[in-house]
Amino acid sequence: MIWFFDSGFGGLQTMKDFQKLYPQYNYIFLADSKNCPFGNKQWDTIKQLTFNGIQRLFDHWAKMVILACNTAAAYAVRSRQEQYPDKKVLSITIPGVEKILKDDNKKKIWILATQATILSNIYTDLFHKFGGKNNPDFQFIMAPKLVELIESGEANQEEIDFVVQEHINKFDNIDTLILWCTHFPILTRHIEKFFIWEIIDPSKEAAVKFGNYLERHPEIKDQLTTGGQITYYTTGSAEQFSIIGNRIKWEEIKAKQVEIK
Ligand code: DGL
Repeated sequence: MIWFFDSGFGGLQTMKDFQKLYPQYNYIFLADSKNCPFGNKQWDTIKQLTFNGIQRLFDHWAKMVILACNTAAAYAVRSRQEQYPDKKVLSITIPGVEKILKDDNKKKIWILATQATILSNIYTDLFHKFGGKNNPDFQFIMAPKLVELIESGEANQEEIDFVVQEHINKFDNIDTLILWCTHFPILTRHIEKFFIWEIIDPSKEAAVKFGNYLERHPEIKDQLTTGGQITYYTTGSAEQFSIIGNRIKWEEIKAKQVEIK
């Protein structure tokens, strides 16, 4: 079993990337939809909600949780391992940074993220911590409206295009766009209409790296159960989650409602 946590539907898209590469495993997904969005909350609230969500999964016998939320990771990533010394909490944040570090030719990088992620400075901190030298010009765009669009599930294709274009038109001469919120890859089809350069999705990078991680940690790999079963939990409306989740995953979803204390 592989356990995923996010505030909402973004993590579902992340889990989809993992499932594509590792369909043999069983998966459990928990969304704290009741408290979504995390991105406009204060840092201490985000940290508490994140720890509560992770704890809920550990209470559900999780051995390892994948934090499929960049906002949560921005505030909990540094302390998550101290909080749970005997368990594994992996975040998808670092693989996105590693991808940029590999390419010295990047000049102007646009980071699309939530307000809280941008205010945390985690991206530039990690870039320098991991030895980033090329000093690209980072531009940050807060995009709370995009999270809202996805969570409401109500916008039609034209409305989504309109809001996406509003964000994309803000800068010129960008060579790379990082979708630094797990919700945004759900809109890749729309983003590609207005942005023709490289788009980096940290979740996809993380999914690829996960295979290496399992090879390095046979003690974890051996504990993962197989069979391809997927279970979905939300703290919000199970019905709403199932309807919108179904559109994102292109498969029938029957979510169950749970509480997180
Ligand atoms: N999916 C979350 C992320 O990756 C953010 C959405 C929210 O604001 O809750 O940052």
